[in-house]
Amino acid sequence: MPITATTRVLGTSPAAAQLIDAVERRTGIRLTRAEAAPAEIELFVDPESSAAEGYTLEIGDRAVIVGADEAGLFYGVQTLLQLLRQDDSGWWLLGADIADSPRFPRRGVMLDVARHFFGVDDVKRFIDSTSALKFNHLHLHLTDDQGWRVHIDSWPLLTERAAVTSADGDPGGFYTKDDYREIVAHAASRHMIVIPEIDLPGHTHAIGVAYPELVEAPVLNDILVAESERLGQPLPVAGETYLGWGVGHSSVRIHEERTYDFVRDVVRELAEMTPGPYIHIGGDESLGTPQADFDLFAERATAIVVEAGKIPVAWHEMGSAANIAEGTVGQYWGKTTPEGTHAEEAIHFVERGGALIMSAANVTYLDMKYTADFPLGLTWAAIIDVRSAYEWEPTAVLDVPEAAILGVEAPMWSETTRTIDEVEQLVFPRAAAQAEVAWSPREAPERAWDSFRVRVGSLAPLWKAEGVDFHPAQEIPWSAR
Ligand code: ACM
Repeated sequence: MPITATTRVLGTSPAAAQLIDAVERRTGIRLTRAEAAPAEIELFVDPESSAAEGYTLEIGDRAVIVGADEAGLFYGVQTLLQLLRQDDSGWWLLGADIADSPRFPRRGVMLDVARHFFGVDDVKRFIDSTSALKFNHLHLHLTDDQGWRVHIDSWPLLTERAAVTSADGDPGGFYTKDDYREIVAHAASRHMIVIPEIDLPGHTHAIGVAYPELVEAPVLNDILVAESERLGQPLPVAGETYLGWGVGHSSVRIHEERTYDFVRDVVRELAEMTPGPYIHIGGDESLGTPQADFDLFAERATAIVVEAGKIPVAWHEMGSAANIAEGTVGQYWGKTTPEGTHAEEAIHFVERGGALIMSAANVTYLDMKYTADFPLGLTWAAIIDVRSAYEWEPTAVLDVPEAAILGVEAPMWSETTRTIDEVEQLVFPRAAAQAEVAWSPREAPERAWDSFRVRVGSLAPLWKAEGVDFHPAQEIPWSAR
């Protein structure tokens, strides 16, 4: 059906306004609002129409989207926008008869705002571009060795002293509480739940820049020393901002009660401004923390999150702790073929009544290079071209019941990315691969590389219109319009 200045939109949901704005950004055509049926494009919510977050979309002489809920309607609008085409006669919508709903309830992306800081407008842009792919969780990695990025009233030196710089000595920054609330509200308007992460007990060098009494002296492992030398990066020095990106050298003091006062205050203040049910407590790469201390910390920290009324989330290492709080969600970041103790740690979350988010590093990590010569990104987990990002199955990694897999999250670590444009070059198109892995039925005939590569290629004009700085990977037949 044609899209022209006389095309009218009926619907009172926010998704109707979002549709009108997005069509204008793409085509320059401002659709008008219809006051009553019939209209050329009609949007409704009907809870009986499909499963949660689902929608139906019919495009013939008219377009009708029925969402099971507001999120479903929003996703139906995103699909409609993907079906917009231009030819010499103008703009039109491809015909469609779609009934769609997600395979997994958890479809997440993570943005590391600690290694490099991204301001509120950048994060909103990230929310817009990823929610358009039907991601519904935004995990913000708010703290790491290089910086502490969210203001905490009861520990004000965190942002006063430990937010000034980023990796490589680039400028830092932090979110005020109002900034954070603005991000949460923007995410909610795109049906995304924000999961704030405070990474503990390792990845905590920055805490010691503000409050030296909370952390141990840096532990310099051999890999850290060799890698720092290779990269020409400084080694961590207690109490000074850390500008490299080596890992495993920092730990909070496990046997000081003041550490738990700190964790309790931070978790309480975060919980107060986080409407979503989760707080992520970190747990990765605490190589300088003795195992028994790490396990003790994991048990106490997850219990503190539960006391604050939230569900703890932790990187899979915390599954080493026998008594991790019941119901804690584990985030598996090992490989698709698990190594070492990764699988048993992850499985322990399920044994404790929790569930798992799958972030297998060799397929979902958005900060890995596409090719060995790609200018941005790292290679430690794998070199991940679009096809390998796409061709994996989240339930085939760990020996757990399928119901224990909540879904998929694609993390974007920011050691090598200074700007949101650089972030986007790593994220797009591979985030689209994870979006489809998380959304589409495993057995659908379209859930195949040859189908995906053509469909993702058709997103190029949409991404260009939205200013998404995607990487035009050679594997994809990109559409011109
Ligand atoms: C991680 O990549 N350290 C979770």
